[in-house]
Amino acid sequence: TKPGTFSGTLVAEPGSAQLTTDGPATACWRYNQSLPGPLIELEEGMEVSLTFINRLPEPSTIHWHGLPVPADQDGGPDDPVAPGGTRVYRFTLPPGSAGSYWYHPHPHQGVSGQIARGLAGAIIVRAPGDPLAALPEQHWAISDLRLDAQAQIPPHSYGDWVDGREGENVLINGQYRPALALSTTHRVRIWNMCPARYLNLSLPGCEFVPVGSDGGLLEKVLPAQAAILLAPGERMEVLVTGADGHSTLSLLPYNRHPMMSPPPQAALEIATVTYQAAPQPVSEGVALRTIAPLGEPGNLLRAVMMEKMADIMKNKGQTPPRAFLINGKSFDMARVDLTSKAGVVDRWEIINATTMDHPFHIHGGQFQVIERQYLGKKSAPACLAWKDTVNLRPGEIVRLLMRQETPGMRMYHCHIIEHEELGMMGMLKVS
Ligand code: C2O
Ligand code: CU
Ligand code: CU
Repeated sequence: TKPGTFSGTLVAEPGSAQLTTDGPATACWRYNQSLPGPLIELEEGMEVSLTFINRLPEPSTIHWHGLPVPADQDGGPDDPVAPGGTRVYRFTLPPGSAGSYWYHPHPHQGVSGQIARGLAGAIIVRAPGDPLAALPEQHWAISDLRLDAQAQIPPHSYGDWVDGREGENVLINGQYRPALALSTTHRVRIWNMCPARYLNLSLPGCEFVPVGSDGGLLEKVLPAQAAILLAPGERMEVLVTGADGHSTLSLLPYNRHPMMSPPPQAALEIATVTYQAAPQPVSEGVALRTIAPLGEPGNLLRAVMMEKMADIMKNKGQTPPRAFLINGKSFDMARVDLTSKAGVVDRWEIINATTMDHPFHIHGGQFQVIERQYLGKKSAPACLAWKDTVNLRPGEIVRLLMRQETPGMRMYHCHIIEHEELGMMGMLKVS
């Protein structure tokens, strides 16, 4: 490839992997026979061409989650690649697009099965002036898999459809409970690629210093936190502080108010960590980048997430309930739900009128959260940041600003993959 260009190939195909030490191999679906798919490392300004070869027995697409790519290159449900088919996705990465992204299938009515079998991978876009570029990086692409007693991936249960499916095997870069060696100098990029599992990460003896979100570096270094929460679809960049020693990376219980199963009671250990202290490379409050506020919005776009509790309870144990809605409607590809104009800032008001948490995601690029309203209290984020996925607790309202740069059809949806597939998704027509 010539400088400034990147070309790659992603082949989605069935295969098998040894995921347990003593059990049989697990039949799974992967990109390039790798689980997760290969890390794609790009730079701002690059012209990217990615060839997708679909060797699955069903239609698929590849969606570039969070990247500002044209609507017709975004691998949405309206643009399937047939079994045996090939498709080249092309896009150019604009200045300011550095960050941690990911790719995953997005076919109509087929996403949950494809992600549950292993299809997802990470993308990093780097910027020339990155102030943390000198730090060694560690990548935690976190996914989960459900395995039955024969180490095979079982079909979805009714509970999986309602709550979203959580696999008991939480993997970091495809490894079950890996041993990690970490130090203060590491810049750690974390991806939540799980269909429904919330990652409430803690590393006793250490703290996490947030430096980046979905769309790259934050405005400034934030105060250290004992735990960080990533909802499905979200990413974060952190530095880690602490003294020399051994620790365990764990998922603390987080109650996302599931309907069909009790919330977790105990922490789940997902890695062992050997930690080495070194001088902290940047301290709290240090500026990382300039993020210009998006400014005065035009349109108000409102999305109210709803559930039909009676339908969920009535169908128990039978067909998946199409009972998760946005603005009272279930997804229909032939319907335009909201409209916008390219280059104009929209003010989104997202309302969670359901009884459980939902991570809300909008295609087309990155947004700025300006306000949250929860239990009658309003709060603003600690600093400006670019995001493409934001969690809403029951009853919570999130106000954000987003500018769609190019015309076309864009999806917005809950990133609990089962909810998206069951219709908690709408279409924004940008003209
Ligand atoms: Cu990561 Cu529409 O999805
Ligand atoms: Cu997306
Ligand atoms: Cu949801």
